[in-house]
Amino acid sequence: RTKIAQLYADAESLGGSRVTVAGWVKSVRDMKNFGFVTLNDGSCFRDLQVVMNREDLANYDEISHQNVSAALVCTGTVKLTPDAPQPFELTAESIEVEGTSTPDYPLQKKRATVEFLRTQQHLRPRTNLFRAVFRIRSVAAASIHKFFQDRGFVYVNTPIITTSDCEGAGEMFRVTTFDPAHAPLLDDGTVDWSQDFFGKAASLTVSGQLNAENFAMAFGDVYTFGPTFRAENSNTTRHAAEFWMIEPEIAFADLNDDMDLAEDMLKFIITYVMEKCPDELNMLNKFVDKGLIERLTHVATSDFARVTYTEAIEILERAVAAGHTFEYPVSWGIDLQTEHERFLTEEHFKCPTFVTDYPAEIKAFYMRMNDDGKTVAAADCLVPGIGEIIGGSQREERLDVLERRIAELGMDEGQYKYYLDLRRFGSCKHAGFGLGFERMVMYLTGVGNIRDVIPHPRTVGNAEF
Ligand code: 4AD
Ligand code: MG
Repeated sequence: RTKIAQLYADAESLGGSRVTVAGWVKSVRDMKNFGFVTLNDGSCFRDLQVVMNREDLANYDEISHQNVSAALVCTGTVKLTPDAPQPFELTAESIEVEGTSTPDYPLQKKRATVEFLRTQQHLRPRTNLFRAVFRIRSVAAASIHKFFQDRGFVYVNTPIITTSDCEGAGEMFRVTTFDPAHAPLLDDGTVDWSQDFFGKAASLTVSGQLNAENFAMAFGDVYTFGPTFRAENSNTTRHAAEFWMIEPEIAFADLNDDMDLAEDMLKFIITYVMEKCPDELNMLNKFVDKGLIERLTHVATSDFARVTYTEAIEILERAVAAGHTFEYPVSWGIDLQTEHERFLTEEHFKCPTFVTDYPAEIKAFYMRMNDDGKTVAAADCLVPGIGEIIGGSQREERLDVLERRIAELGMDEGQYKYYLDLRRFGSCKHAGFGLGFERMVMYLTGVGNIRDVIPHPRTVGNAEF
C-alpha cells in the first residue's frame, strides 16, 4: 500500500510502477468510456487523480456511481503527466469499494461555512480547510518538542488533577466523586471535601507551572506541554475551556532570558511549519488569510517589540487623546483588554510585542516584585490578529517576599509549603512562560476562531462528543 504523500515525494522515480492506494473519494466524473476519481488519503494535502477506462475495469459502472467520501482501494500504474497541473496520475487496473457513501453525505463539494462545519465535528477533518489546520497543529506540536529537546530541556508531564489554583483566578473545574444531591456537608453548610476521593477539594489544572518549577530546580531547563482547563465564562473567539499549553521553566534566568527564549521559540515554530507545510499554508493564504505567508515570513525574521506596561498605557492614552476610542477606558492599573492589546501590536508596533512589568494587583502571586514595589516582572507577548499569545514572568525567588505576598492575598500558606520549600533549599532566579497552543495554531493558520483549530472544542455551552 502506497501513501499519496510518498507518490508526490518520489514522483519521478515512480513513473511506470504499479501501486495500490487507499483513500476517500472527493469527486467522481464519468465520461461514459472513461472517468476520473479524485482521491485523498490524508497523508498529504494533495489529491491523487485516478483515471479509469471502461474497457480495463470490470466494475466501471459501480465505481462511477460512488458518492463523495466513499472509501476505495485503487491499484494501477503511475503515469507521469508533465503537461498537466498535477505531476502524475494513476491509471487504474482495479478499484475495490471498501465502504460506500450516500448522496446525503453532509460535506458535498460546494464550500460549507465554518459555522456549519462546527456542527459536523466528526466529518470536518475531511475538508481541505481542516486537513490543513490539523496537519499544521500536528507539525507545530512536533516543532515545539524539537525546539526544546534540541536545547536540552527536559519534558515533564505535570498533573491534570490538582489541588492548587496556580493562577488564583478561581476558574477551576472541580473534580469530585460526590453526587451533588448527597454531598456531605460541614456545619456551615459547605461541602466537606475531606470526605471526597483525594481527602480535599481537587480540580482540573489551569497551568502546570508550579509543578514545572519543582523540576526546573532539579533539571535547570524544563517544559510541559499538556492540556489545561479554565471555567472562564468568556464566549469569545480565543477562549476555550480546554486548551493545551506549553510551559517552559528556566533556572538561573531572568525576564530578559525568558523573553529571548519565547521569541526564539515562536520564530522556530513558524520557520519549521513553513518548511514542512507549504501546501497547507498556500491554501490558507489563498482562502483564509491573504496576508498569512507574508506575515509569518516577516515575524520569523524580525525583532519583536518590547515595552513596559507603563509605556503601553501612555501609548494608549496618547491614542485616546488623538481621537481613538476604546470600549474600556484606559488608565494605569487596568488589565489590558483585547482591544488594547490589538491596538498595541497591530496599529502601534505592527509586530509581536512584549509588554512587561504589569501592576502586581492584576497578576498572579508568584511573579517577582520589582524594586518599585508596585509592578511585577511579567511579560506577555501580544501578536497581531489575536492579542495575548504568551503569558510569562520571572518568579519570586525570595522566601520572605513570597511569604508576605501569600499572606497579603489571604492564600492558604499550608497549601504552598512545597512551593515555599523551593525558596528554602537552593532558591535561584528563575522564569518561565505559557504559550497557548491553540492561539499559536490560529496565528499559524490565520483561522479566526479558536473553535476551528481544536479537533473537538470545549467552550461555554459546547462539548460535543
Ligand atoms: O497568561 P496565562 O494565564 O499564564 C499562565 O497560566 C502561567 N502559569 C504560564 C506560565 O508562566 N507558565 O496563560 C498562558 C497562555 C495565554 O497567554 C493564552 O495564550 C493561553 O495560555 N490561554 C488560553 N488559551 C485558550 N483559552 C483560554 N481560556 C486561555 N487562557 C489562557
Ligand atoms: Mg495571561
